[in-house]
Amino acid sequence: MRVSLLLLCLGSVGVSMATERPEAYRRKVSLEYNPGWNSSEANLLHIRAVGQNDTLHFVWSTIGAPTMVLVYTGSETSSLHVNWTKLLSNSPFGAIRVEPEESVLYSTAVVFAKVYEYNGTNTSDLSKALAGDFYPAYDLANFTWDSLDGKWNQSDLTATFRGVCADHGGTGWNGSIAFQVTAFEGSDRDAPLPRLLHSANSSKVAFVMHGVAPRGKQSRFALEIFALEEGSGRKELQSVRSIDDEYTPTIFEMAQLVSRPRNDSVGSSFVQWKTAAYASPDAQRTDTIHCQYYPLRTANLSLPGRSLAYAFFGPEAHYAVAGLNVSFGGEDSEAYQEKRYLSWSALIGYGEPPEDMFSTLVMVILAVALGTPVLLLVAGGITVCVAAQKRRYSEYDPIN
Ligand SMILES: *[C@@H]1O[C@H](CO)[C@@H](O)[C@H](O)[C@H]1NC(C)=O
Ligand SMILES: *[C@@H]1O[C@H](CO)[C@@H](O)[C@H](O)[C@H]1NC(C)=O
Ligand SMILES: *[C@@H]1O[C@H](CO)[C@@H](O)[C@H](O)[C@H]1NC(C)=O
Ligand SMILES: *[C@@H]1O[C@H](CO)[C@@H](O)[C@H](O)[C@H]1NC(C)=O
Ligand SMILES: *[C@@H]1O[C@H](CO)[C@@H](O)[C@H](O)[C@H]1NC(C)=O
Ligand SMILES: *[C@@H]1O[C@H](CO)[C@@H](O)[C@H](O)[C@H]1NC(C)=O
Ligand SMILES: *[C@@H]1O[C@H](CO)[C@@H](O)[C@H](O)[C@H]1NC(C)=O
Ligand SMILES: *[C@@H]1O[C@H](CO)[C@@H](O)[C@H](O)[C@H]1NC(C)=O
Ligand SMILES: *[C@@H]1O[C@H](CO)[C@@H](O)[C@H](O)[C@H]1NC(C)=O
Ligand SMILES: *[C@@H]1O[C@H](CO)[C@@H](O)[C@H](O)[C@H]1NC(C)=O
Ligand SMILES: *[C@@H]1O[C@H](CO)[C@@H](O)[C@H](O)[C@H]1NC(C)=O
Ligand SMILES: *[C@@H]1O[C@H](CO)[C@@H](O)[C@H](O)[C@H]1NC(C)=O
Repeated sequence: MRVSLLLLCLGSVGVSMATERPEAYRRKVSLEYNPGWNSSEANLLHIRAVGQNDTLHFVWSTIGAPTMVLVYTGSETSSLHVNWTKLLSNSPFGAIRVEPEESVLYSTAVVFAKVYEYNGTNTSDLSKALAGDFYPAYDLANFTWDSLDGKWNQSDLTATFRGVCADHGGTGWNGSIAFQVTAFEGSDRDAPLPRLLHSANSSKVAFVMHGVAPRGKQSRFALEIFALEEGSGRKELQSVRSIDDEYTPTIFEMAQLVSRPRNDSVGSSFVQWKTAAYASPDAQRTDTIHCQYYPLRTANLSLPGRSLAYAFFGPEAHYAVAGLNVSFGGEDSEAYQEKRYLSWSALIGYGEPPEDMFSTLVMVILAVALGTPVLLLVAGGITVCVAAQKRRYSEYDPIN
């Protein structure tokens, strides 16, 4: 019994070491900018990730609110079609399609709608802020986005959408808001904090606010995100807590927006993030900005008027919208005000969200912590047995 416990401990160390190794599932990833259009006045980035008998299409665009449409197909040759005339018109529904249509198994979209700024003097909790605490929100659909020309890179699979607020045109709005997208060909862990674990079925997006002047001494910011699920599907918000913070020091919580399990074989998708943002491009632990998320809203929501999601999914009757806010900045940290830099990363992907295993270091510590008493017990047991045996012999001896 004790020996099997010990074996269990050693075994789990072995399992943990095995699971830490990147998984073998790989995709061939290619990037395409404004396919079928030779202008760079609007941005559409197509990330095509071909696997075994399937293809994932991640389509990013800043036509309207920054949006990613994810389409999973059961074919290695499915392709994206864009009708640019329609996409840039006032009725873009149907402007983007993936063909052949019958190969499409699952699709979803994530829309980054607004950035809220509020007076955090009394509370950094967005849900407790009063109406009078809010400054006019930044509507990301109204931003002017730089051309992606020269800002996407096939070799490291990255692209940066950078925008400035157009409503404040000419009034000294110096900063920018950017969405930095990274695609992956296989599974690994990111080098920079928050060191998210990714797979070939996901891409990473970093929301970066740089140089945007806060409108108050204790301004706090929040990002509003919408995600949709087709047909009878629904989204659900989960919190995954771990005692292990080796990869993201002092952060013990991972939040994820996932598709609620369904009884049909339709796929699922996720948005996953650690509850931390950072106040520097080369994030250190000391640059950590408190990040908080709020309950998922599903009732009476509508997507921003203009976005790639509308161009793909059309009228709202066909899907369910879920929305949530993520706020940055705790009660007393003024990290953003000092550095004017804020970066928050999330992973968006198809299927199940990656699960953080206990790190090898923590497993070894646990094994030693749990194993030592077991070893002592076993050693103690053996000693007692041996002593008992000896005593028995010494008791029997005189009789012989
Ligand atoms: C874009 O394509 C049109 C015709 O399709 C052509 O007339 C025009 O010169 C092209 N522009 C550039 C910058 O290549
Ligand atoms: C891909 O499809 C072919 C033909 O349908 C099948 O023979 C093969 O086993 C499939 N491969 C995988 C990895 O599913
Ligand atoms: C693109 O959309 C326009 C306007 O909706 C339509 O007239 C045109 O036929 C479409 N082009 C193609 C190739 O479908
Ligand atoms: C903020 O707190 C101050 C003092 O604690 C209080 O007087 C004030 O009414 C509060 N303001 C709001 C908007 O709650
Ligand atoms: C965004 O632009 C639209 C149309 O130009 C305008 O009606 C709306 O008020 C703007 N939103 C904000 C937050 O300024
Ligand atoms: C793309 O990334 C690679 C590797 O990081 C770099 O060497 C190359 O210069 C980049 N290309 C462009 C066009 O930025
Ligand atoms: C924008 O930058 C200029 C020059 O650096 C500075 O004078 C101005 O105050 C800045 N505006 C804001 C809103 O921070
Ligand atoms: C990625 O998706 C494929 C196809 O659904 C699946 O076989 C594979 O296990 C997934 N990989 C990971 C790491 O989730
Ligand atoms: C923020 O709120 C506090 C308390 O309500 C108030 O004293 C302060 O003037 C407000 N700051 C701004 C910039 O509105
Ligand atoms: C799945 O569940 C829905 C209701 O939740 C039901 O109407 C439908 O028949 C079920 N489908 C299957 C294949 O069980
Ligand atoms: C949604 O809107 C309807 C009608 O406008 C209203 O009756 C209902 O109470 C709203 N639901 C929520 C949760 O706000
Ligand atoms: C996000 O917060 C703002 C400000 O409190 C609120 O108006 C908005 O409805 C929230 N959005 C969601 C999706 O909860």
